[in-house]
Amino acid sequence: MNTLTQSPVDKYSLTLRVLHWSTALIIMTLLAVGFYMADIDPKAPEKYDLYPLHKAFGMIALFLVVLRLPARAKGPVPAPAAGLQQWEHHLSHLVHILLYVSMIGMTFSGYFMNSTYAYVEGVDMFGLFSIPDITPKSEYWNGIAHNVHSFFAWSFIVLLTAHIAGVVKHRMFDGKDKDVLPRMA
Ligand code: HEM
Ligand code: HEM
Repeated sequence: MNTLTQSPVDKYSLTLRVLHWSTALIIMTLLAVGFYMADIDPKAPEKYDLYPLHKAFGMIALFLVVLRLPARAKGPVPAPAAGLQQWEHHLSHLVHILLYVSMIGMTFSGYFMNSTYAYVEGVDMFGLFSIPDITPKSEYWNGIAHNVHSFFAWSFIVLLTAHIAGVVKHRMFDGKDKDVLPRMA
């Protein structure tokens, strides 16, 4: 089922709700950790302490996003909240689409960046197993993937600010028929 075939449910499916909150927790933590670790002086001894954890959780985020796309396409997805104006619905829908684009862009650019590093082999998953590289080593493509990763980091900041502000505004300042939080709770 997709958004064009509206179903009579008033909530996202349990699968989508679990995927939403687990992905949100990981991504928001990775944004903070990513900016923090990238900002450490390359000569500092602790520079690369957080990189392995960042990459392993980043690959978990990638896995969750890959699960989420078919789950979202299958639905069910609730109809727009009754009290929303047409433009509010369109704007939130656009932000949701761009959040999906950013989730895909962020996770895959991280994986590509890691694969193209000359001195790194695969992504170590907490010492349990390693996820293999998917690209040849290339300084040129590493630079591109790095820029894409940074671009999506900032796009996330902008989109998440709008996303969270929208949810909070509808919950705290608008009528009950505009409150969208219960749809995801
Ligand atoms: C949704 C998942 C992810 C988020 C939100 C995220 C977030 C970030 C952020 C905010 C930065 C700092 C960017 C900057 O300062 O320009 C960063 C850097 C980095 N990320 Fe990610 N990341 C994710 C996934 C991944 C994955 C899957 C990998 C690799 C497997 C990865 C590898 C790296 C590396 C190596 C850096 C440091 C680059 C440098 O040294 O400047 N990230 N990440
Ligand atoms: C990295 C963090 C987040 C991402 C990537 C994200 C992404 C999304 C996406 C794509 C949707 C559309 C539903 C879907 O297709 O699954 C959505 C809906 C929703 N999100 Fe988030 N979200 C994040 C964080 C948050 C936070 C912190 C809150 C709480 C303030 C929140 C509250 C909601 C609510 C209430 C909905 C339902 C909106 C509606 O039905 O109109 N999200 N989110």
